[in-house]
Amino acid sequence: MIQLKQFDNGFSYLQVNNLSCSAKIALQGAHIFEFRPVLHDNLLWLSPISEFKEQSAIRGGIPICWPSFGNNNPALAQHGFARTSLFTLISAEDINPNTTQIILKLTDTQETREIWNYQFELEVIFTLSETLSVELKTTNKDIKAFKITQALHTYFDISDISHVEISGLDNKPCFDALTQKTEPFYGNITFNEEFDRVFQNLHDTILLKENNKTVEIKSSGSNSAVVWNPWIDKCAKMSAMEADAYKEFVCIESANAYEDFRVLQPQESHSLKATFTTL
Ligand code: BG6
Repeated sequence: MIQLKQFDNGFSYLQVNNLSCSAKIALQGAHIFEFRPVLHDNLLWLSPISEFKEQSAIRGGIPICWPSFGNNNPALAQHGFARTSLFTLISAEDINPNTTQIILKLTDTQETREIWNYQFELEVIFTLSETLSVELKTTNKDIKAFKITQALHTYFDISDISHVEISGLDNKPCFDALTQKTEPFYGNITFNEEFDRVFQNLHDTILLKENNKTVEIKSSGSNSAVVWNPWIDKCAKMSAMEADAYKEFVCIESANAYEDFRVLQPQESHSLKATFTTL
């Protein structure tokens, strides 16, 4: 079942319920902010004090960073404009009793061309079943080439950051945003301080483990991933985050960031896709 719903302030979202999962996807930002597989734990963290309002990014779920990750394009706002733009619903379909597909689209407007002067189409394709898959398909509709960096800025719901371990990033070149240095990273990731790094040359599955739970992250069209936790001091300064929120989430962001940027020629498309499975 797929329903178009609104909060009291008119902010619209899709509510999906099928035999395998339930989900909520905002039309602003094509932003999935809830995904609950029937047989497993809630996948995505959502800040309890996040606001749902126009022009403001939801804190949690999967913000879509596009057409620029972080400050990769200094002319644009941090993480680009897609996460605060209103998408159009193209299709919403129960493919079978266990699987629903939702397609949302953003195209250029006078407003987007003023800050990023290109004609484009960005389709976001959600496939919702036992697993969640999200595809960002960018098509260059202009007569000139453009460059994008992007990320699926996934906030994973965890019980306690001190019990989390991330594997699949061993021996990869890694840019540390805190020290501004690039060096190889060795071993699995655990957390006891602020962590903000961009990993390159990725081809493998990433695993997020906490106690008995494992989430598998498979990406295609992407050779980079960002791992982020703000820890105590930064968390206290972040918008729409309670002081202890850093304990409850970790972000693992399937990306085309920094040197993993993509240049699209006129009429060319590129898809970045991530699939999240609780094992
Ligand atoms: C991460 C960055 O991707 O996003 C961090 O690596 C940043 O540096 C974080 O703080 C959150 O960004 P924002 O704009 O959603 O507050």
